[in-house]
This record gives sequence, C-alpha cells and structure tokens, in this order.
Amino acid sequence: MRVDRFLSNLPRFNRQQVRLLLVERRVRIDGQTVNDPRAQVREFSHVEVDGEVLQAGRMARYFMLHKPQGCVSATRDPQHRTVLDLLDEPDKDDLHIAGRLDFNSTGLMLITNDGSWSRRLTQPQTKLPKVYYVETEQTITAEYAATFAQGLYFAFEDLTTQPAELTLLGPTSARLSIVEGRYHQVKRMFGHFNNKVLRLHRERMGPLVLDLDLEPGRYRALSPDEIRLI
Ligand code: URA
Repeated sequence: MRVDRFLSNLPRFNRQQVRLLLVERRVRIDGQTVNDPRAQVREFSHVEVDGEVLQAGRMARYFMLHKPQGCVSATRDPQHRTVLDLLDEPDKDDLHIAGRLDFNSTGLMLITNDGSWSRRLTQPQTKLPKVYYVETEQTITAEYAATFAQGLYFAFEDLTTQPAELTLLGPTSARLSIVEGRYHQVKRMFGHFNNKVLRLHRERMGPLVLDLDLEPGRYRALSPDEIRLI
C-alpha cells in the first residue's frame, strides 16, 4: 500500500500530519528516506518515522519441499504428520503452503510467509501452469486430451475449468498441465471418465521445477533468482 495511506491508517497521524512528515523527509522505508506519498510499503518493508520503527521488516522466506505420500498439506493436523512438520525452521506459524496437495499426492510444494508471492503463484488469473505426472487405473484414451482442452464443467462450483493440456506417456500414464488448483481438480478431471488416479505427482509450478535429486520429505530454500521468477 502507499506510504501516505499506511501512515494515515495509524491512529496517531492524520492526513495533514502525514503530508508534513513526508515533506520534512522524516519517513524511511528499508533505510531510504522517502518523500513521495506513492512510495510502496510492502508486507516485509521496514518503516520508520524519526527513527522510530512503525513496522519491523520481517524476513521473507521461501522453500521448495518434496512432499512425500501420507502427509497432510496443512499447517496443523491432530492425527497426521503435516508438511510443516518436515521443516526444521524457526517460527513455522508464520509459514503457509502455496497450493495444496492431497494426502497421497507427492511432489513439488512451495512454502513461504510471503502472501503476495504465493497469491501470484496460485491465482488462476496469472495462468501459471501446474504440471502433474498422473497414473490411472484404466487406459487413458485420446478423447481425454480434447475434453480437458475444452474445459470440464464442475457442478459443485458451477464453473468450467480452464483449458488444460494432456500429454499421453503410456496407456495409463500422462502429464497434465492446469492453470488452476480447484479442490481435487486432477482426480475429478479423470473421474469424469470414471478413471481412478492411482498416482499423482506435481513436477512443476510455473517456472519452478522440483529438483530431481530432492528426496521425498526433504526441502531447501529457494534462491533469490527463483524467488524473483514469480
Ligand atoms: N489435484 C488433485 O486431485 N489432487 C492433488 O493433490 C492435486 C491436484
């Protein structure tokens, strides 16, 4: 949000005072003096007025995890191990998952405390492809690709899924690329053909690809270059 809005939202300053603070160059964001009322204050910005800290900039954190089977994509679960239990990090309550996977699905899971970053990654509007390797009980026929490309009607949400791309890899295996993450979306798409998904593994989210040498249950921090890609 704009710095003038950020400051006038605080009970101690009115708009007139905020204008003066900026003109008198008494406001700093991330160590830089600002006088432009349009300067942006973000979730992780450090904001000071006359050297007094009004928002302490937290550290933004980003991780790639290889989710194993039999683990819940939630921050807490009374019964099962969660993906956050796999992280050996401080302040785990601050972290959230960008795009869940079902209990028995495996693969790429991105975990962060940066809400705008994770929204960009998961919002259907940004159209970032999520790529899954799928194995099914029955044969996957050529008809599937055409149906998925057209979109499928989901009665519960009363919506038609966005076009998805299916590449056949074998009689019962395929790679599917979707830009949304509706509830159980992949299983429901194959369910349209009464074909049960036996294995579901997320390989990629947008430009971020799961490291081939990252074992199930292991994780690593994303590099600054990877973070900037989203
Ligand atoms: N779609 C599903 O049905 N399950 C997942 O875990 C991910 C996408």
